[in-house]
Parts: sequence; structure tokens; C-alpha cells
Amino acid sequence: MSAKFERTLVTSALPYANGHIHLGHLAGAYLPADIYVRYKRLRGEKVLYVCGSDEYGVPITLTALKEGISPQDVIDRYHAANAESFARFGMSFDVYGRTSWPLHVDTTQAFFQALDQGGHIDQQEMELWHSEASDRFLPDRYVKGTCPKCGYADANGDECENCGAQYAAHELIDPRANIPGDSSTPALRKSAHWFLRLQDFTDRLRVWLDGHPEWRANVKGIAGGWVSDLRARCITRDTDWGVPIPIDDPIAQGKRIYVWFDAPIGYVTNTRQWGIDKGLGDDAWQPWWKDAGTRLIHFIGKDNVPFHAVIFPAMLMGQDGYILPDQVVGNEYLNVVNRETGVAEKGSKSKGNMISVRWFLERFSQDAARYYLAAIMPESRDAAFDWDEFRNRYNGELCDVVGNFVHRSLTMTVKNFDGKVAEPGALDADDQALLDSLPVQLDGVAEALEEFRFRLALERFIEIGRKANQYFDAKAPWTTRKTDLVRTATTLYVCCQVVRTLCMAMAPFLPAGAEKLAGILNIALPNNGPDGGDDIWTASKALLSAGAPLNTPEVLFPKLDPDYIAAFWNVVNWGCVAERLTSAL
Ligand code: MF3
Ligand code: ZN
Repeated sequence: MSAKFERTLVTSALPYANGHIHLGHLAGAYLPADIYVRYKRLRGEKVLYVCGSDEYGVPITLTALKEGISPQDVIDRYHAANAESFARFGMSFDVYGRTSWPLHVDTTQAFFQALDQGGHIDQQEMELWHSEASDRFLPDRYVKGTCPKCGYADANGDECENCGAQYAAHELIDPRANIPGDSSTPALRKSAHWFLRLQDFTDRLRVWLDGHPEWRANVKGIAGGWVSDLRARCITRDTDWGVPIPIDDPIAQGKRIYVWFDAPIGYVTNTRQWGIDKGLGDDAWQPWWKDAGTRLIHFIGKDNVPFHAVIFPAMLMGQDGYILPDQVVGNEYLNVVNRETGVAEKGSKSKGNMISVRWFLERFSQDAARYYLAAIMPESRDAAFDWDEFRNRYNGELCDVVGNFVHRSLTMTVKNFDGKVAEPGALDADDQALLDSLPVQLDGVAEALEEFRFRLALERFIEIGRKANQYFDAKAPWTTRKTDLVRTATTLYVCCQVVRTLCMAMAPFLPAGAEKLAGILNIALPNNGPDGGDDIWTASKALLSAGAPLNTPEVLFPKLDPDYIAAFWNVVNWGCVAERLTSAL
């Protein structure tokens, strides 16, 4: 890590507790962050990894209305389900919090008040759609109509899913209420709301963004576009589901803070709660958010870029002493290949083509899921999930290249050398060249990870296995075994060193496989916590000693059977089709 920073605070976007997370979520904001965090911890650095559920907002109250249950029921169920899915996927969050935690009211209101005291919040009257039939205002998705920009007939109150346009409520054409039992035609009514004056931060945002030429082009592009046209943004809503507005005015009572204002503050709340729950005291969160020695990194999907690269930073600028993100890693989308057409399609709940994490992990291993998603990670352009490619890449790369090399090296060693790392004879030029390449190859993986190039890092890991297989084939220990036992011992000694390197290189990507392999090699793979610790990554460059005992090898990555995979093309619901909560959970 650059000497500038003493610790790293990593966040992944807080998923809405309004549905099951799917593979697109993982590939976008979670797997890359987890790989990065695991890598940094292996380096012994101080890293805190914060995530949690995003539990306010209109989609949640609408789900509750549709299901005839309370919003609290919705978030309790999906919070638990998603926390479990993340755990099964091997996510190493230090805290998986909730924006419904009582502490979050305090954090959010403090942010609001600081901005208000700084003169960055205005009150304004707006014209909003109001349903006579339901006797309520219709925020966001509570009203549908025709998009004023593209004519899409199912556009939301303030934005169009079809063309991405954002507009004022009164611009919506042919509005209709979108509440179960109420599709009446609403009327415009005046309502007072609070606005965050983003334009106050234009200059500071620009200077800050210009200071980060190293960010990905997609993030810089979107953020730059926003900063050139900042205006006041409404940060309250006519709803009773959200954080109360900390303003002593009867008008504020029936309204709440908008979910996109409170959600990123959830990162702070969850850090606070983490410190309290760990017994580190009420102030343990402060250095993570206020010390210039902290490097803050947000991992998000593309649609979240404006919030993390413009709006939340502006909110942080309006506070006392908060740091700003040093990196915003925004991934593109993961689409899904349509079997009939072979074409990649956007995931959509109604098409039923999204794959829920819990459904997937009931059928496939964590290692297989992580491998494939890392291999196709949508870093600079959209990627697509494809069942055949999933099988081919996992079987052909992880199983055939790395798994196979590890297995044949270890089984031959255990069988021929009494369950121990073999005692080498004199090293020839090939042996020496391969041994010398190991720390260099491991550095290559590290370098790619430091630059957030996860696909490249994974390729470099597989490449270690490829080179090792070439060496193994050239040295043919299964033949030399009959003629030259010292040569065989030397070959397998070198192979065991490669296996050790592979164990470390795979650890950030495939923690389950790495754990298993470390068990066979009898090496420790300790998990450093937020306090940091030893640089286990670098220490792994040291050689295993000849004569060190090994445990019985087992297949690390069992292959996927083509028939097993083929059957899933035909499944109509991969666990993400909107289900009634009562039956789904
Ligand atoms: N819930 C949002 C989404 O899924 C992400 C919120 S990220 C946060 O798009 F920073 F605001 F929490
Ligand atoms: Zn539109």
C-alpha cells in the first residue's frame, strides 16, 4: 500500500432488503471487494470491510402493501436471507448492518443537521401527485405513467427505467396511482420538501475528482457529467417509512428522509455499530472515517456511480472532518445469455432470467461460483452469465489446470515419498527457473489486485498452474520414478513449492479451496482482522522444507458434469422471480 495510508476502509453497496440478491450483485459490488479485502488482509494491512442491508425506500413499502404485511416483515426476512447468501458465498464482511438500526437515525440526522447548519439545505414547495382515493402523496414508484422523453408507458413518477430519463413529477404523462387497489388518476398538490444544494459543492467536487485520474473511465465519465450540472436535489419524501427529518416543524412530521440520502450514511452507522459490538468503544469508528491516514474505497455497480462519486462525497464535504473516497470501483452489468437466441439479455425479475445466490449455492460450490464470476467480472464492459461457459471455464481452467496440477503433484509426493515434501537432489536449470519465477508470478497477481484488475489477477493465478503443468509434463516424474528417484524427488519438491504458491494466489479468490489446500500442506492461513498482522502473502514466498509432512490429498475442485449443467438451461425460475414472501421464506 502506498505509504500515504495506514488503513483501508472498504464498502460494498448496501443491497435493498427487498428481494434475493442475484449473481449480478455479486459480480458487480461484492466479489471484487471481497477479493481485494482478503488480499489486503493476507498482506497484513489494516482493513475494515463494511456492508449491510438498505432497508428504507418505496420498493419496500410497495412490497409490503402487495403482500399484506408490514415493511418490517419485508426487511427482516430479506435481511436474514441475504446475510445468509453472502455467508455461503464466503463474503468476509466485518459487519453486515441494517439501516433500520436505531443508531442509524442518529447518524443520518447528524449528517442532515450539519448540512443544514452549513446552509446547504433549502426548503421548497413542490407539485406532487396525490391520490384522493388513498388520501396520500405518491412518491417515486407509487405513481406510474408515460415517460415524457421516450413515451414508455410504465415509467415511474420521477424516472424512466426504459430510457433512464429523470424528470419532475408534473412532467409525467397520463399518471395513475400504482398502489394495490388504487389505480386512480392522481392530481397535483403542493407539498413542502427539503433539498440538498449540491451546487454548493461543485468546485470542491471538481478539484477532488481531478485529483483522481487513476479511476476507471466509466466512473470518471459519469461523475464528470454530473458535476458539470449540479442542482438542488430533493432529499425528503411523503412517506412514513424512513428516518424522521430532524426539523422542528409540523410539516416535517409526516415526511421522512429519502432513502438515497440515508443509505450511504449506513456505511458510517455500520462502522459505529461494529465498534460498539466489538467492545472497542463508541469512538472506535472515528479513525476509519476521519483520519487522513484512512483510504476509503467504495465498490459498486454502475448505476450507483452518481451517488458514490458525487452525492455522498458532497454530503461528506458538508460534515466536520470526514475523509473522502480515494477510489470508487464501479463495475458494469452482468447480463444473462438467453438459451433460445444465444443473445445476452439484461437480467429482469419479470423475465425470470436472474439467478439468485441462494438458489445457485444450493446447486454449486462456493469455489465454482466465485471462480466463474471473477473470470467474467464486468470490469470495463458488460459481461453475460452463460451456463456452458460456466462449465467450460470452471472445468477447463480451475479443475484441469490448477486442480489437476495440485492433485498429481501431491498424490505422487505422498505415495512415493512417505507423505512428506521430497528431499531434492541438485537443481537443474528448469527447476531453478521455475522456483525463481514463483515470487515473480505471485507479485504479478498482487500487482493486478492493487490496480483492481481482478480478471487479470485471476488469469495470472491460472497461468502459474499452466507453467507448472508444462514443467510437470516435461519432467515426467511418473516415468523417472522407475529410473531415477533423486530426479523424481527434485521434480516433486519443486512442484510442492508451486502448490504452495498456488495456495496463496488462490486465497483471495477461492477461500474455501485455499483453506482445504492449506490443510493438506499443513500451513497456516490465518485471517488477519482490522488490526492487521503479519504479511502472510510475502511469507509464503519462503520454501516448504524438505521432509515437511503432508496430509492426504483430496480433489479440491470437483468437475461439473455436463448433464447436470444442461438441465439448468430449462429451469424457468432461477430463484429470483418475484415470489410471495410468505411462500418464499
Ligand atoms: N440499495 C442500493 C441499490 O441496490 C445501493 C445503496 S448503496 C448505499 O442500488 F451506499 F447507498 F448504501
Ligand atoms: Zn423514457
